[in-house]
Amino acid sequence: MGQTAVVTGASRGIGAAIALALARRGARVVLVGRDRTALSTVEQSIGAAGGQARSFVADLTDEAAVGALRQDTERAYGPVSLLAACAGGGGDPVPMIEESLERWHRTLDANLTTTFLTLRTFLPPMLQAGSGAIVTMASTAGRQLSGAAAPYAAAKAGLLALTRQAAAEAAPHGVRINAIAPSAIVTDRLAAAPAALREKIAQSFPLRRIGQVADVVEAALFLLSDRSNWITGITLDVAGGRVMI
Ligand SMILES: NC(=O)c1ccc[n+]([C@@H]2O[C@H](COP(=O)([O-])OP(=O)(O)OC[C@H]3O[C@@H](n4cnc5c(N)ncnc54)[C@H](OP(=O)(O)O)[C@@H]3O)[C@@H](O)[C@H]2O)c1
Repeated sequence: MGQTAVVTGASRGIGAAIALALARRGARVVLVGRDRTALSTVEQSIGAAGGQARSFVADLTDEAAVGALRQDTERAYGPVSLLAACAGGGGDPVPMIEESLERWHRTLDANLTTTFLTLRTFLPPMLQAGSGAIVTMASTAGRQLSGAAAPYAAAKAGLLALTRQAAAEAAPHGVRINAIAPSAIVTDRLAAAPAALREKIAQSFPLRRIGQVADVVEAALFLLSDRSNWITGITLDVAGGRVMI
């Protein structure tokens, strides 16, 4: 691949797995998150697999930190042509009328503001170069009613709108932007759930299994490759058949 990729939310879970897969394909990968220790564990596993990666610690709700991320990346690895914006996450669902304003802001910031600032920072050089591919990480919670918390569902729905808007603006410049909408994927949160609950969730899917990180990685690799070079502005549901649109 020989390209420079930035992966946010790369300290664990889906982002870490996408970073490893991109590095295996030959990309120089910048890993972004807030947890320095977790980032260096991912960096080491990429190094051990023969890949090239560096970590950048940043809270992506901080505009200045995102600017510094771009500067540091370009200085170390040159222009960025691939971006996987995976930072985000949600909390346990509670009835909407019981949501606190604090959690509302925190969830919108973690999912939507991080992605907005990341796109706004990394898009301009791609537009100028006339090429690049980006994936954002939404959720089926942003597509249709789900058991997720209201701020999370709202943030992910907003993220889909943001992705479409950015994709429409970027398309004439040869830059593609697509969203992935996973449903239940086994990362730290679901891995910690009782096995019986995981099985119940698995059986609730038309395909009768729970999602694995590898399912999302395959979608991301496709959307970040030339194999999808006539696809932009879509939402790819990685959801075991739960969303059929
Ligand atoms: N797992 C699922 O079932 C599922 C389903 C649908 C959608 N998704 C979405 O897929 C993405 C990854 O999910 P996951 O399960 O792998 O999540 P995770 O294990 O909770 O990891 C979340 C990642 O986002 C980073 N992050 C969050 N807020 C950040 C901020 N303000 N600045 C920088 N980094 C930040 C975290 O970094 P630090 O920990 O280093 O701060 C971490 O690397 C999320 O956007 C999630 O909403 C997941």
